[in-house]
Amino acid sequence: MSLKDSSSMGASGVEPAEQPPAPDIDITKPHIARIYDFFLGGKHNYAVDRQAAEQVLKAMPDARLAARVNRRFLIESVRWMMRETGVRQFLDIGSGLPTQQNVHEVAQAIDKDARVVYIDNDPLVRVHAEALLATDPNTIFLTGDLRDGTALLDRPEIREHLDFSEPIGLLLVAVLHFIQDNAEAYAITDALYEALPPGSYVAISHAMRPDADSYPEGYAAYNRATGSLTLRTPEEIGRFFEGCTLIGSGLSRLADWHLGDSGGGPRDDEVTAIGDTSALKDFPGMCGLARIDR
Ligand SMILES: C[S@@+](CC[C@H](N)C(=O)[O-])C[C@H]1O[C@@H](n2cnc3c(N)ncnc32)[C@H](O)[C@@H]1O
Repeated sequence: MSLKDSSSMGASGVEPAEQPPAPDIDITKPHIARIYDFFLGGKHNYAVDRQAAEQVLKAMPDARLAARVNRRFLIESVRWMMRETGVRQFLDIGSGLPTQQNVHEVAQAIDKDARVVYIDNDPLVRVHAEALLATDPNTIFLTGDLRDGTALLDRPEIREHLDFSEPIGLLLVAVLHFIQDNAEAYAITDALYEALPPGSYVAISHAMRPDADSYPEGYAAYNRATGSLTLRTPEEIGRFFEGCTLIGSGLSRLADWHLGDSGGGPRDDEVTAIGDTSALKDFPGMCGLARIDR
């Protein structure tokens, strides 16, 4: 160990135990947002999350790359909505911990007045999001649960922040697979689509079960750690887009998704440090961006 390394240690030379950033943050059990943060190379994770993430990586070595490609889908969807449609406001449910290229940064780089509401049910996300957003009046963060469905939309903070006479970009990226029951998940998205203003869009990515009999081992490892993931078949994921018009390559495998002739400008892989995605060809995750037509 170098002298430099020892500067972060306690006087005894033993690594100090990690401390939660707030009393209500549990760092004894792995959390979804923090495992994902670890895959993205972030720093908002704890030993228990890293152990769980390493278990997943053993069974699914491409999980890190998949997290970045998922993030690229999110970023490109936001850019496309900003450039090609009238959408100037976003509702990002299951937003995750702040990372590089957050939705408000991507949107406001195109129009500084773009407005964003982030929602997540993990209290740690609030701790970090509030610090990040303290000086940005156009972006707010709320602790809330996707399971509350349209009750979320009735929250006064959302009504004050978003203009419900203008289209909204709904982001449900890597979150619907945490709703276990199919009927409940479809009821939530159906109700959200009905409640959003005309001309709104939705971006969804989802963990995939290639067919009804299979369950990829990497996801099984994830579920042993968190007990939270529900995989859906391509047909079941497709149901989330009923009454919508898909853009670009349509509902696609994560590695194959693209905007095609729909515009959106060149791919900027550097911001998400992706490189060669061919390794992800068979990764069991799907995504799609669509206009809500109901
Ligand atoms: C895999 S991360 C995805 C983060 C971000 N959307 C992305 O794709 O880059 C999933 C996030 O959804 C949140 N989450 C899980 N279930 C949720 C629920 N029922 N309501 C709100 N957020 C939820 C987790 O806390 C986590 O931050």
